[in-house]
Amino acid sequence: MPEFVGAVDQGTTSSRFMIFDHDGNEVAKHQLEHTQILPRPGWVEHDPVEIWERTNSVIQNALRHGGLSPADLVAIGITNQRETTVVWDRRTGRPYYNAIVWQDTRTDSIAAALEREGHGEVIRRKAGLPPATYFSGGKIKWILENVEGVRADAEQGHAVFGNTDCWVLWNLTGGPDGGIHATDVTNASRTMLMNLETLDWDDELLALFDIPRAMLPKINPSSHAEAFGTARTSRPLRTAIPITGVLGDQHAATVGQVCFAPGEAKNTYGTGNFLVLNTGTELVRSQHGLLSTVAYQFGDSPAVYALEGSIAVTGSAVQWLRDQLKIITDAAESERLARSVDDNGGMYFVPAFSGLFAPYWRSDARGAIVGLARYNTSGHLARATLEAICYQSRDVVEAMEQDSGVHLDVLKVDGGVTANDLCMQIQADVLGVPVSRPVVAETTALGAAYAAGLATGFWRDTDELRSHWQQSKRWEPSWSEQQRADGYAGWKKAVTRTLDWVDVK
Ligand SMILES: Nc1ncnc2c1ncn2[C@@H]1O[C@H](COP(=O)(O)OP(=O)(O)OP(=O)(O)O)[C@@H](O)[C@H]1O
Ligand SMILES: [Mg+2]
Repeated sequence: MPEFVGAVDQGTTSSRFMIFDHDGNEVAKHQLEHTQILPRPGWVEHDPVEIWERTNSVIQNALRHGGLSPADLVAIGITNQRETTVVWDRRTGRPYYNAIVWQDTRTDSIAAALEREGHGEVIRRKAGLPPATYFSGGKIKWILENVEGVRADAEQGHAVFGNTDCWVLWNLTGGPDGGIHATDVTNASRTMLMNLETLDWDDELLALFDIPRAMLPKINPSSHAEAFGTARTSRPLRTAIPITGVLGDQHAATVGQVCFAPGEAKNTYGTGNFLVLNTGTELVRSQHGLLSTVAYQFGDSPAVYALEGSIAVTGSAVQWLRDQLKIITDAAESERLARSVDDNGGMYFVPAFSGLFAPYWRSDARGAIVGLARYNTSGHLARATLEAICYQSRDVVEAMEQDSGVHLDVLKVDGGVTANDLCMQIQADVLGVPVSRPVVAETTALGAAYAAGLATGFWRDTDELRSHWQQSKRWEPSWSEQQRADGYAGWKKAVTRTLDWVDVK
């Protein structure tokens, strides 16, 4: 009897394969980074072939590290960086172009034109999203318009689109040799092409982007007993394993944090930050700059919706200190450097590298460091970077409270940045609300495993999953109300200094 569930987590910076036991504990994992291709300011690409090769390797290596064979896995789930767009030739498996990553801003003129021509309202109403560079629709349009031969191939059904879940699934299930071209509702809800109520591709939205329907994958529930397909490639899996769960990474983290009831929320701190609030089977439309999205859909049950506050740059600002400024040598050093000072020394860093996402949605913004005095040090910059992570989260928490009326009495957190003790303390201070991290911090992979295991009956129901959740650490607010109010007022002022910086035509 197989005793474990596997999860592919194809993220923005790396791909992981994780294996979980019946109690939701990690049994084995392997992780490999892939290249960030930055050809021009604002452009971010990945090589889809490299992503698929790394995914293959991490599956094999995790199994080997765990001393397991594919036959020990009852099912596999897939979770992924969302919105990142791959267009490939289904006859050969060859991508027409690099993957255009969610952070990429090259489609700003496409987004601005949609708004200018009065289509913003229909996109907000049907897709739950504002026209923005972030989502897949504009990226597909860009490839159709800028890469030779793609449109003709798309019209004939040869050129197909997928986010990286779909690309990995298609390859795992055989690639050009019968690969399954499917995705799930959560990924589809990030394209600007799916109607949130019908949960199907919407002809009016497709027409706005001039995207042929034949390019698009079939949309399944996120957890699906009939399986998305069977992983059957000779490498890395020689045994047929059903793939029964697919979810975008933030939706998977919501499941991994067992936010199954309306009013439950989590905040994930990775490359960016993503706060997701479960709003139940009711679709709530944001008035304050959040996105409406599908949280998950399990089997035949109705879709569960969420409000989401997406922040483009948080952990990646720490990577910027490391890779571009070279003032630290690893991410953890950001904490040591920030601890060399008592406060931000009057300095704020707004890392609007890709414009500002929630709740501002300003593609004309760019990053700024403000309030500088001769007195300031690299310690203040490190501190301001950690504060920026927390202030951006406060912005979306405020929007969420206004939209939903839900007041958080604790913020459930996860993701790589939560290893930073100081940052989590600042988060509690800035919010005035305790912050709580679970034992299994890899909630993204865990959520994908949960979706896959629920479909096969490996886990009975969501109550069983709830019983796995355990707190590992909690941070209590320590600032006075005055300190909190002054700090936040400084942040809001700093944000205004980043706006209206680049001209979007
Ligand atoms: N101790 C630390 N202090 C601050 N930031 C950290 C620390 N450790 C990791 N990070 C940041 O966390 C991020 C990685 O977190 P995580 O692995 O959760 O990312 P991720 O978003 O899942 O990656 P991906 O985008 O590939 O899915 C990186 O941006 C890194 O800079
Ligand atoms: Mg991730």
